Amino acid sequence: MQLRTVRATQYVTALREGGSLPAIVAADDLGLYVLKFRGAGQGPLALVAELVAGEIGRELGLNVPELVFAEVDPALGRNEPDEEIRDLLKASVGLNLALDYLPGSTMFDSAAGDTADAKTASLAVWFDAFAMNVDRTPRNANLLCWHRELYFIDHGAAMYAHHDWTTMIERAASPFREVKHHVLLPWATRLNEADEQARTTLRTERIAEILDAVPDKWLMRDDDGISAAEKRAVYQDFFSRRLAASAIFTEEADRARAQLV
Ligand SMILES: Nc1ncnc2c1ncn2[C@@H]1O[C@H](COP(=O)(O)OP(=O)(O)OP(=O)(O)O)[C@@H](O)[C@H]1O
Ligand SMILES: [Mg+2]
Repeated sequence: MQLRTVRATQYVTALREGGSLPAIVAADDLGLYVLKFRGAGQGPLALVAELVAGEIGRELGLNVPELVFAEVDPALGRNEPDEEIRDLLKASVGLNLALDYLPGSTMFDSAAGDTADAKTASLAVWFDAFAMNVDRTPRNANLLCWHRELYFIDHGAAMYAHHDWTTMIERAASPFREVKHHVLLPWATRLNEADEQARTTLRTERIAEILDAVPDKWLMRDDDGISAAEKRAVYQDFFSRRLAASAIFTEEADRARAQLV
């Protein structure tokens, strides 16, 4: 698997509602992207999660805006008046992650009457339980409505177990109780079908390809003392075990849904 690489040519505007201060940027392919900065407080592991979980979602058949690598060069922020943004750009010179900007999209809001079909909702709940993504709640849906379809964004907080990679494997069979807050849970009436479909779609070879696309530097920390290849092997093991444990988190999601009504 190969992501395209673009070069950011213009900082258009900050997306202030995003905690990591992402921005809309223009790139050298004339496209507009939402850039997630490597130098943001969440650290490079947020970009690892954004890439890996995002591509897993796409593999499962969910809509995820195209992900690309985005080069930021030191000239980009030079005339930026806001000091916080200037610092963020300075800390992010080099490779970052960006996603295709969906103009005119709106955030999913069930209070405003947005709904989801059972198949998409069930697959989405399965996906977020698999990826351990806590950021799909009614308050912060990270789900865009665009051209009458749902698009899944913001996976930086997914795979939270990877922040302590020494205990990551132990947590691979977690039921993921946080699923009870999932924004699409009320529509997720076909969870067992979603589980079957997901387990046939998601091949471990594909997960390996996705992990290979992650830049080594994003995986490394000074104090770890292990190589990027060893890290990838831990992730691979984690996802294999998580896949084998899908009955556990599918059941948990079913139980949580039953308690909603
Ligand atoms: N591809 C996109 N197209 C259009 N708008 C987008 C796109 N990606 C993000 N946005 C908008 O920017 C906001 C911030 O993006 P995102 O949620 O990825 O940032 P974040 O800093 O991780 O946010 P959070 O505070 O939820 O952790 C989103 O809530 C959405 O309104
Ligand atoms: Mg968000």
